Amino acid sequence: MVGRFFLTTPIYYVNDAPHVGHAYTTVNADAIARWHRLSGDDVFFLTGTDEHGAKVAESAEEHGMDPKSWADQTSARFVEAWRGLGISYDDYIRTTEPRHYLAVQAFLQRVYDNGFIEKGLYEGLYCVRCEDYYTEEQLVEGNCPTHGTPVTHMEEENYFFKLDEFEGRLLEWYEANPEAVQPAAKRNEALGIIKGGLRPISITRTSLRWGIPVPWDDRHVFYVWYDALINYATAIGYGADEERFAQWWPVVHHLLAKDILRFHTVWWPAMCMAAGIDPPANVFVHGFLLFGGERLSKTMLQRLARSAEDVNITDIAPDVLTDDFGVDPIRYHLLRSPLGADSDFSYDGIVSRYNADLANNLGNLVARLATVVGSKCGGIGPAPAVDSPLAASAAAAVSEAAESWGRFAPHDALAATWRLIGAANSLLEATEPWKHEPGRGVDEVLGSALEALRIVTLLVSPAMPQAAEEIWRRIGLSGSPGDCRLPADAAWGGYPGGLPVARGESLFPRRKD
Ligand code: MSP
Repeated sequence: MVGRFFLTTPIYYVNDAPHVGHAYTTVNADAIARWHRLSGDDVFFLTGTDEHGAKVAESAEEHGMDPKSWADQTSARFVEAWRGLGISYDDYIRTTEPRHYLAVQAFLQRVYDNGFIEKGLYEGLYCVRCEDYYTEEQLVEGNCPTHGTPVTHMEEENYFFKLDEFEGRLLEWYEANPEAVQPAAKRNEALGIIKGGLRPISITRTSLRWGIPVPWDDRHVFYVWYDALINYATAIGYGADEERFAQWWPVVHHLLAKDILRFHTVWWPAMCMAAGIDPPANVFVHGFLLFGGERLSKTMLQRLARSAEDVNITDIAPDVLTDDFGVDPIRYHLLRSPLGADSDFSYDGIVSRYNADLANNLGNLVARLATVVGSKCGGIGPAPAVDSPLAASAAAAVSEAAESWGRFAPHDALAATWRLIGAANSLLEATEPWKHEPGRGVDEVLGSALEALRIVTLLVSPAMPQAAEEIWRRIGLSGSPGDCRLPADAAWGGYPGGLPVARGESLFPRRKD
């Protein structure tokens, strides 16, 4: 179904450099966005950085910089990381931009005017160095868990959002929209939080200056989450271009990990209701990439991590991986881990998947076809057979891939695509065209395998855009896979034959490590 497709990633904090956990969400979102473009949808794919709050202010201070300069510098590192991974976002939002100040103030003013914000006393144990409150349970031996220094009992007058007033409405909303949070287990988690009881939340601070001023009381700034969530509305024109906003909202797809489920499935829908707009139509919650259980040699550690001591997923910079394996193999690897569950991330895992799927399967099909078309057909690809057994495999792959991309399951979409690669390789192995004299039989097999490869290339292009361009060029096709529209252009018989098939360097040379 062709339509508008608005997809978001979380906006990442600028207190830390981009790591492979951030890349996991962003690459998955990118491939899904590319799939929708290929399917003819009007896509708006949004990512960006979250730049306010105590944590960012603190890391700026640690680096001897003012918060804005620090945010500029770190946000640019995310831009650079996404460039390196071929991320095709349509907009990159930074919460320090004037357009965001405008939208946040307009949004929360609306919530205030609607009577859902009130003044109250925020009480707690305060660490001045953190500029943050703690509960008794969070303290370590009575001291701040971060600094180990004593905390003081403080009271601050804050504004509170009356989240408690939305319990009933949220439950009704989820009842009426059973698909709103996916997978189902995550929906149940959200329902559990709501049913467990909601309390008003403090949404402003006077102890911190690094935030967006509260429009009706500028002694306060908004608490960072309250400004951050609104980025999704800012980017489509909230408060500035209502017509544009209405075109994209509420049919949005928020992709994020389970660490921020509560904010997106409880706070954000309630905030939308309080501002008088519909809650987001879809929140897809994925699991974590976990790094552990692998014994790493010192060289592997040095390859993977910034510091070779205690390696965590957050120590692995995406460019370390792409420098080693190439961009598309890393994208492929991140997309093959089932989105939804937690997945193990390991160096050995990347190598074995690379060898099995890319070197032995896809790379082998490309190389083999070029060689045999070279020796049996003078380097000119023949046309496919109308009744090739590969036609049914291709049709199945196209429909299964479409269904899987559509339900945010890139791993299943790629598995379906690899079944077609397997079928093409099997046909070549069964018929051994390299052993036969040139002629109609050989032409039909090779033409059909080329057509299967053309369809594979289209299906693989959201995941591995560079490799797809290269294969497209090698089998003599003009334009690029991105110019095609699916499913029409993936129908059997699109490869015309009579095109030069080029040999080239191995696309995915086998790894020996
Ligand atoms: N700034 C907030 C989000 C605000 S959205 C309105 C934030 N930022 S974050 O930098 O901490 O990013 C968290 C997100 O990064 C996760 O929800 C997930 O998308 C991604 N990931 C971070 N580590 C990850 C893993 N280890 N595995 C998978 N995703 C990971 O929270």
